[in-house]
Amino acid sequence: EIAALHGREILDSRGNPTIEVEMRLACGVCARAAAPSGASTGIHEAWELRDGEPTRYRGKGVLNAVSLVNNEIAAGLAGADAAVQEELDRRLIALDGTETKSRLGANTILAVSIAAARAAAAAKGLPLWRSLEAPAGRASMPVPMMNILNGGVHAHWQGADFQEYMIVPYGAPTFREALRYGSETYHALRSILAAKGHHTGVGDEGGFAPAVGSNREPLDLIVEAIEAAGYRPGAEIGLALDPASSGFFEDGAYRLKTEGRSLSAGEMVDYYADLAAAYPIIVIEDGLAEDDWDGWQMLTARLGDHLELVGDDLFVTNVARIQEGIRQGAANAVLIKPNQIGTVTETVAAVDLAQGNGWGAMVSHRSGETVDTFIADLCVALGTGHLKTGAPARGERVEKYNQLLRIEEEAGSSLTFAGRNAFVR
Ligand code: PGA
Ligand code: ZN
Repeated sequence: EIAALHGREILDSRGNPTIEVEMRLACGVCARAAAPSGASTGIHEAWELRDGEPTRYRGKGVLNAVSLVNNEIAAGLAGADAAVQEELDRRLIALDGTETKSRLGANTILAVSIAAARAAAAAKGLPLWRSLEAPAGRASMPVPMMNILNGGVHAHWQGADFQEYMIVPYGAPTFREALRYGSETYHALRSILAAKGHHTGVGDEGGFAPAVGSNREPLDLIVEAIEAAGYRPGAEIGLALDPASSGFFEDGAYRLKTEGRSLSAGEMVDYYADLAAAYPIIVIEDGLAEDDWDGWQMLTARLGDHLELVGDDLFVTNVARIQEGIRQGAANAVLIKPNQIGTVTETVAAVDLAQGNGWGAMVSHRSGETVDTFIADLCVALGTGHLKTGAPARGERVEKYNQLLRIEEEAGSSLTFAGRNAFVR
C-alpha cells in the first residue's frame, strides 16, 4: 500500500534536469526511480513535461512535474497497492486524462510507475527482474548492443550522419564474457582512432565521435578494432546500426551531409543492402524516417529476411503504431523505450505484442540517462534477448551493464544467455 510519494528535480547525464521519485509503502519499504530523456526524440512519443521557464535551466526545469508528484499524484494514488502494476498504471493514465500524457507528462508518470515496480519487488523480497517476470520461464540474459561510435545529434561536432554504430558480441558464452568482448573492442577502437589521428572524445552515449568522411568509414574502423581485439567479425561479434534517419530526413529526402548527397527511400534501401553485403550487420534500427511507411515496407521486403529491422521513432513503444506496422509488414522488430509511452504496463504490452507476432523487441536507454537501472531488469524479465545501453563507458551507461552482471551472478545457471538466437533474423 502506497503511503507517500516524493518528487525531486535531479540532473541527467547531459546536465539537464529530470524527475526522480521516491515511493514509501505502508510496510516501510522505500524505492526510488528517475526518468531518462532523449535527444533524437520521435514526434509520436508521449509528452515530456518541462517547465518552459527560460530563466531556469533554459526552460528544461521539471518543478511542475515535482509538484504534480507531491500533490495530485500522491493524493490520487494514496492507499493504492503498488504490487498491482496494471491497476496503478491505469490510475495514472486516468489521472492524466490525455492521449499523449501531456497533462502530467510521461516523464512524471514513468518515474512513479517504475518506483512502484521497484517498491513492490522489495516488499516481496524479490530481485526486480523476478518480480517483473511473467509468465515465469521467459527470462534470459540479453546480448549487449554497445554503441561504440556516435554520430548525428549525439556527437557535438562534425561526425557521421548515422547516430549509432553498435557492436553485438552474440558469440560469447555468457553476458559477462560478452561485456568483456565489447569492452576490449572499445579499447582497441580507441587505439586505432588515435593512431589514425582522430579525436577520441566521446559522444552522449559513450562512443567515440570521430570526424569521418562517410557513413561507411566507421564500419571499417570497427571491423579493424574487432580483429585487433582478437575476435572474428560476424562469428563472435556482429554489427548493428541506428542511423536515426528521421534526423536527416528533410523535404522527402535523406540528406547525408557527411557524404554531400541526398538519397530517396529506395536509394537508402540500396545503400543499406550494400552495407549489409559488405559487413556483418545483423540489425538496422530506424533505417528510414518515422512516417515513411512506404519506405519501411520496401526496406522490409528487401532486407527483412536477413536483418532485424527495428522501428524506434516509427513505433515509439506504442501498441497502436506497432499494430499498424505488423499489418503493413513494415519492420520486424520494435525498440522498447519506457519513457516513449510512460508506464511499465504499456511498455510490457508493447513487448508482448511484438513477441506474440514473432517480432523482435530490443530494450533501450535514452541518450540522456541517470543511473537508474530499470531497463536492465526489464529486458531480463521479458526475455527480450537484447539491450542497447551505450558504450562500456560513462557511469550512467556502465551502471546498466553492471546491474546485468549482478543479475547473472545472482541467478547462476537459471538464466541462459540469449546469444545469436536473440535476433529474429
Ligand atoms: P535518443 O536516441 O535517446 O536521443 O532519442 C536513442 C535512439 O535513437 O535510439
Ligand atoms: Zn533509435
